[in-house]
Amino acid sequence: MSQRRPFIGGNWKMNTDHASAVELAEQVIAGLQDHADSGDVVLCPPYPYLDLVGRTILSSPVALGAQDVSPEASGAFTGEVSASMLLDVGARWTLVGHSERRHGLGESDALVGRKLARALQSGLKVVLCCGETQEERASGKTDEVNRRQLEIALEGLEPAALDAMVIAYEPVWAIGTGLTPSLEDAEAAHLAIRSVLGSLYDDQFAASVRIVYGGSMKPTNVAQFISSPEIDGGLIGGASLKAEDFLAICREILA
Ligand code: PGA
Repeated sequence: MSQRRPFIGGNWKMNTDHASAVELAEQVIAGLQDHADSGDVVLCPPYPYLDLVGRTILSSPVALGAQDVSPEASGAFTGEVSASMLLDVGARWTLVGHSERRHGLGESDALVGRKLARALQSGLKVVLCCGETQEERASGKTDEVNRRQLEIALEGLEPAALDAMVIAYEPVWAIGTGLTPSLEDAEAAHLAIRSVLGSLYDDQFAASVRIVYGGSMKPTNVAQFISSPEIDGGLIGGASLKAEDFLAICREILA
């Protein structure tokens, strides 16, 4: 397990409804009572339920996060949600650059960078996601892809602004598929990401950044991932929709 403060995100994606969102949030906070401050646990419900879930977890140590944020501050941007709106409804975190937005919706590295800058500037904490596709891994480009995604996203950002950033290494081919990289491959990707941070900033800064793993993390494989000192927690999709599974993962990471 790493020396850095553990981080666990529950990315609910486009799931739940009014009733099930409240129920899931209630179950999560009830199950984490004994782990009050041993790490950051963040729930990321769909936009329409942010306020509701935020109220449900209000006096708990669990924080509220969004799944995305607009790169713009305000104005005529139909369908977009600004960082200040997210803060206004109680969100403290947002995901940026999730692969389902990069690959499913065509978000460019540059757009991800603009979102990251806007969110940090507005006072949101950010989980910046990166990761390679199956083809990129097969052609040996994993480190190159992560480097490109990070370099473009971080361009122009000073280390002081990045205190509020967690990086999620999420191999695209592992998301929602049940497939996972070996511990060695995940660890190698985390080390390569940390060395990108070292080359963009310095080693001290690089050592301070939390890098979590995401992609089919489950109660049955979490212990293996977090046995590595390089893996500071997880970003959980499918398994965050079942309180029992999400809590089992949290307990393992926060133990
Ligand atoms: P998964 O999703 O746990 O369902 O693979 C992870 C993610 O997309 O963040």
